[in-house]
Amino acid sequence: MRVLVIGAGAREHALVGRLAAEREVGEIVCAPGNPGIARLARTVPASLSDPAALAALALREQIDVTVVGPELPLSLGIADHFASEGRLLFGPTAAASQLESSKAFAKAFMARHRVPTARFVTCESMDAALGEIRSGAFGWPVVLKADGLAAGKGVVIAEDRAAAEAAVAAVMTDRKFGAAGDRLVIEECLSGPEVSFFVICDGERAVPIGSAQDHKRIFDDDRGPNTGGMGAFAPSPLVDVALTARVMRDVVEPTMAGMAGEGHPFRGFLYVGLMLTADGPKVIEFNVRLGDPEAQVILPLVDEPLLPILVAAATGRLVRSAVRIGSERLVGVVLASRGYPESSSAGEPISGIEAAEAIPGVAVYHAGTAQQDGRVVTAGGRVLTVVGRGADFAEAIARAYAGVRQISFDGMQFRSDIGSKALVHQR
Ligand code: AMP
Ligand code: GLY
Repeated sequence: MRVLVIGAGAREHALVGRLAAEREVGEIVCAPGNPGIARLARTVPASLSDPAALAALALREQIDVTVVGPELPLSLGIADHFASEGRLLFGPTAAASQLESSKAFAKAFMARHRVPTARFVTCESMDAALGEIRSGAFGWPVVLKADGLAAGKGVVIAEDRAAAEAAVAAVMTDRKFGAAGDRLVIEECLSGPEVSFFVICDGERAVPIGSAQDHKRIFDDDRGPNTGGMGAFAPSPLVDVALTARVMRDVVEPTMAGMAGEGHPFRGFLYVGLMLTADGPKVIEFNVRLGDPEAQVILPLVDEPLLPILVAAATGRLVRSAVRIGSERLVGVVLASRGYPESSSAGEPISGIEAAEAIPGVAVYHAGTAQQDGRVVTAGGRVLTVVGRGADFAEAIARAYAGVRQISFDGMQFRSDIGSKALVHQR
């Protein structure tokens, strides 16, 4: 089959890397891709915000099946475009993508279908939001979320009333996140470890494909500002067979049934962000795609060909109850450029990628890189993900950091504690 992968990050590099090794996969085209992906697939320039042009590309390239990495084209209706032209695509429609693109939609949906989540209200105006905050009904700290897509930055945990009022003003008056802040979700602050849980869905059924834990803050020991993710490990030692069954029963199954019942059957990867509270697992967020860097550590563990599973799901025929998952442990460390997450630097030559890749059990995935005068240089905030695999977390961590030590570029920053949380749970 001819496969089109949409996206340009390390997540898409991991997807292409997986698919490139599979028997049923013919040529892979990646739009727009990056220099790492270009070694495995033909990359073509493309805009992620132009679903019609991406559909035209699929037609021109005679693509059999398209797999979408990031949320933007999904929320803009790429699945609807492809469906209207009778083209196979694995990913949710714009309506189903609201589980991620509108926090107000996701919260109201969870309330309608009794999916466990934090208590909340949705406010349509500044006055309503200030009224809620002044009532103190959610206690302190309180969590404020801009409704729309805000690149993972639309959440504020306000310690007290003054901080909450300032956050409301930033979102609703100063419009820090633009139209994403027209509505605000205010919710109770939960506590407990956070885990990410991934399923493949066909509109009716879903099968788990693994779990992971992300490291969102820029500095070691979870300090400093939030980022898109500085590293991840898989599987999460907190997600055992019993918890998997509980999350499928209490979260995934009612979500699948609810979306189908409301006329928006969910097809695609579903990323369930959970907090394991004293009252059981509760949904912090849904994403309608794989995570980045989570994909880089969960996809290599899928122990059977991925394409047939994605095609079955895209055609509504996922008639199986499980996907085989390997027993290894994976740890992925993100290398970011100077200034990240506030800004990023570009054009710094990167050395050592091949040396890192030459270490057994190490893989390097490109994100913000570019090819310039025959060299690979930095071209974004998150530059590379270096993944180590091993029989246990200690080995996976050692390999990931052995890979990291080979690589250098001016201004390179990374966390040195990725995976250490997993060691605590390891027997
Ligand atoms: P989100 O963009 O929804 O993933 O939120 C970003 C981060 O904010 C999450 O990963 C959590 O660490 C934190 N967060 C979101 N909602 C809550 C909540 N209700 N209670 C505590 N922390 C939260
Ligand atoms: N790493 C978090 C995300 O992809 O949303």
